[in-house]
Amino acid sequence: MSDRTTIPVIIDCDTGVDDALALLFAVRHPGLDLRAVTCVAGNTDVDGVVRNTLTVLEAAGAGDVPVARGAERPLIEPPRSARHVHGADGMGDLGLPAPAGSPADVDAVTLLRREILASPRPVTLIPTAPLTNIALLLRTHPEVTRNIERIVFMGGAAGVGNATPVAEFNVWHDPEAAAILLTAGVPITMYGLDVFTRMAVPGSEIRRLRAATDPATRLAGDLLAHRPTAPDPDGDDPAGGLGDAGAVCAVADPAGLTTRPLHVEVSLAPGPARGQTVVDRRLRPGESEIHEGVRERALVDVGLDVDVQRYVTLYLETVGRP
Ligand code: BDR
Ligand code: CA
Repeated sequence: MSDRTTIPVIIDCDTGVDDALALLFAVRHPGLDLRAVTCVAGNTDVDGVVRNTLTVLEAAGAGDVPVARGAERPLIEPPRSARHVHGADGMGDLGLPAPAGSPADVDAVTLLRREILASPRPVTLIPTAPLTNIALLLRTHPEVTRNIERIVFMGGAAGVGNATPVAEFNVWHDPEAAAILLTAGVPITMYGLDVFTRMAVPGSEIRRLRAATDPATRLAGDLLAHRPTAPDPDGDDPAGGLGDAGAVCAVADPAGLTTRPLHVEVSLAPGPARGQTVVDRRLRPGESEIHEGVRERALVDVGLDVDVQRYVTLYLETVGRP
């Protein structure tokens, strides 16, 4: 229940191993009021995303949070899953049970509109997936922006990409949708690969989570074990990446993320830069602006540094809490 001390949030996800880590955290964090979860094709097909999302929310004991099915493919591009990272079922092939519940009988855009406008206080939207649902929402029901506090999205990169040398998966999957998001006219924080890739839980902590009696805590451990990053300096098991969960940590505890307001533009042209988030970190305008005038580009709070230890501790304390 939302009160003055909690932040009303909605997560739009493509669950997804690290989306699942994000959901577990959002359900368990006492400062967050998870009001709805919407699903979009990304890491796996949208029906798989709905199934995985319901399973995770049930494991976390969040039975009454409404879940809705959204877009089955990007606005223009064909769907291209990330099953090589997230397993055939999109959830690391952990053999999780099928959910007992079902999605809402409305589509994701309808649920987003309903929950945003019904919230007693402005909602923080946390997309951790391709931005198709969010773009459709903004174009279909632009009035929702009046009750959106801000959008903190996992996507993009100021530096190196992952889907391509320069493009991050969520933006690359649906670049047009990302471009629509960036010009939404509400405050936007980009939790991109520059900070995303740094957030790793030591192998010793993952072992501890996997040995817990609480099923949701154990699930977090199993999911982290599916996301090995670097060898653990303290032992044999590798560390596990928190991925999308870091974006939710940044909502619960904004002081751990260092951002700068920068112009960001998504490259939409065909070719090797398609899907790149071009982040303008120059100290002064260049010849392009001098000769051609300034194009309209979105000003975004770009995450450039993160207090890894602070967020890892926050995550472990939160998911370890029954
Ligand atoms: C993003 O892509 C997906 O595979 C992850 O869930 C994350 O949202 C990282 O590029
Ligand atoms: Ca994701």
